[in-house]
Amino acid sequence: MTLLPPAHDGRSVLLLEDLRLCSPTRPPRKHEREGHGRRLTRQRRAARSRTGLQFTMKIEYLHASKYGNGVTVAEEFSRQMAAQGVTVDIHHIREARPNELPLADLYLFSSPGRFGKPIGGMRRFLRKVELPAGTRYAILTTEAAPHADRAGHVPSDEEMAKWQHVRPIMNEILQRKGLVEVAEGKVQVTGIRGPLEEGWQQKVAAFAARIAVSKR
Ligand SMILES: Cc1cc2nc3c(=O)[nH]c(=O)nc-3n(C[C@H](O)[C@H](O)[C@H](O)COP(=O)(O)O)c2cc1C
Repeated sequence: MTLLPPAHDGRSVLLLEDLRLCSPTRPPRKHEREGHGRRLTRQRRAARSRTGLQFTMKIEYLHASKYGNGVTVAEEFSRQMAAQGVTVDIHHIREARPNELPLADLYLFSSPGRFGKPIGGMRRFLRKVELPAGTRYAILTTEAAPHADRAGHVPSDEEMAKWQHVRPIMNEILQRKGLVEVAEGKVQVTGIRGPLEEGWQQKVAAFAARIAVSKR
């Protein structure tokens, strides 16, 4: 235990908890049995016993939601990941320092679309991000659902990609820094302020499943 770094952030606290919970040298202390102090939630503990995982993952989720749809997606993602025993810390980019991001196993960046690009605040944030090369990241955007034109034609994904560059721009900025993408996805909104498309929770669940698998 003493060889571990001091518990200066959520991740190392988690590792210490894990070691304590897995330690074969002593039975759990009273406060650990009764769930006082910093501890795993009942949900995460249940997920751990289901999956047999000894170490859990921590994700920093950084979003730039303006009308709240991105926040709803983030909260659903966090709920889905908690069921896998994964901790997700959600922050609006306004509340985060790109050059002092907390330690995490994965950074998830989520931006709404603006005129074919990520919203300006997210572009600036990503340019300032300081993370070591090789750091893993994922992207989950909120983008406008395609609408039929006057002739009733709904643009395909390929047609949309001619002017919609939200995820490619985010990837370009992050990959220039040597970061490594593990997954990307989008959830659509049916109007500029929402609501989210029908079946959005299933999309988030499928995305969460890809992230959970990427760690193992
Ligand atoms: C001025 C403006 C421009 C927009 N341009 C785009 C766009 O180019 N592509 C896109 O997918 N969505 C565009 N949107 C819609 C956003 O995707 C939508 O507002 C956002 O996903 C909602 O997420 P939020 O509630 O988290 O802010 C635009 C919205 C506004 C207000």
